[in-house]
Amino acid sequence: MSKLRIGIIGCGGIANNKHFPALSLQSDRCEMVAFCDIRVERAQEACEKYGAPGAAYYEDYRELLKDASIDVVHICTPNVSHSPIAVASFAAGKHVLCEKPMAHTTEAALEMMKAWRQSGKKFTIGYQNRFRNEVRSLKESCENGELGEIYFAKAHAVRRKAVPTWGVFPDKSQQGGGPLIDIGTHALDITLWMMDNYEPVSVNGSVFHKLGNLPGADAGNLFGPWDPESFEVEDSAFGFIKMKDGSTIYLEAAWALNVVESKEAATTLCGTKAGAHINSGMSYQQNQLVINRAHNGILTQEEISTSGNIAFFEGGATKPEVLEAKQWLEAIINDTEPLVKPEQAFVVTQVLDAIYKSAESGKEVQIQS
Ligand SMILES: NC(=O)c1ccc[n+]([C@@H]2O[C@H](COP(=O)([O-])OP(=O)(O)OC[C@H]3O[C@@H](n4cnc5c(N)ncnc54)[C@H](O)[C@@H]3O)[C@@H](O)[C@H]2O)c1
Repeated sequence: MSKLRIGIIGCGGIANNKHFPALSLQSDRCEMVAFCDIRVERAQEACEKYGAPGAAYYEDYRELLKDASIDVVHICTPNVSHSPIAVASFAAGKHVLCEKPMAHTTEAALEMMKAWRQSGKKFTIGYQNRFRNEVRSLKESCENGELGEIYFAKAHAVRRKAVPTWGVFPDKSQQGGGPLIDIGTHALDITLWMMDNYEPVSVNGSVFHKLGNLPGADAGNLFGPWDPESFEVEDSAFGFIKMKDGSTIYLEAAWALNVVESKEAATTLCGTKAGAHINSGMSYQQNQLVINRAHNGILTQEEISTSGNIAFFEGGATKPEVLEAKQWLEAIINDTEPLVKPEQAFVVTQVLDAIYKSAESGKEVQIQS
């Protein structure tokens, strides 16, 4: 079979750090033939570095989409543009991998879902954390019923002080929100996936703008000082989510919060037979998976053994973003489902949007399924 021809729209941070290197390792399955960025010099640079012979670069994604030889589009632009670009890409007959979150609002995500269903093409969202070793292992435990019924969970995305100071992160008009939509999205995706429960019914949310606009609050920020004047999005957000079957999730997300522990893309699960948590993020040098239960009459906790790894010898092929790219391309080639299904990513966006709406109105928000 001929190689899939891929076009990348948005050639900034995530394209350079994840998509280009990961797709480069899939050269038996695909080739990067088109690059687009409104800052066209970025598209040109990427084209020269990663492009297949004859690859082209563009300033306007609509021009890229006119190339009928392109099979797949990766959308790596700021959040508010995900929906219009995805809708246009499906209309042009492309398979679409869109970076997380699916969209900045439920309405925008609904447009994408409609366009996808009409297209008959494949669609996935860039939740690469699902491909981490300990995340896949815990998923297997959940599927095997080792935890029993999971009725309470916590989704963690809290940084003590690591506000991104590049790109458009603090710009509400480009991103739609702050840490909730940026990193809360990963933690909630993992947690819902573990519970295999995509039926939220009500959401209570609180959103804070306490530190972002406070002069001097950027002291100690990992990424250096930020501009309190242009900090438009929240600095922390919290949600209490009830599911149709009564199970409940507490979600916490912050770029800056006065706590000691930074925990990101992490989850805590409480089941009827056992509990489990994944610790990952800046407070942890190595990701941890801990399963707790009663065993032979005593309470135990089982952790990943560090002897399972030899530093620097794990090889690039096991990196989450490489596994993500491989699984995605194989889903297209073999006409199977991608691991991250659009319906699942849609629910993540629905819940995050409901947290913002609940915080704004001061009321509980009901979610219709
Ligand atoms: N999966 C992850 O863990 C992860 C991590 C970081 C960012 N992201 C997501 O990736 C997306 C981009 O984030 P980033 O950090 O790369 O931002 P970035 O600002 O570094 O890069 C975005 C690029 O898109 C370009 N762009 C903007 N509008 C465009 C348009 N209409 N057409 C073409 N190009 C356009 C910008 O010029 C810029 O070069 C966001 O949705 C973000 O949430 C995902």
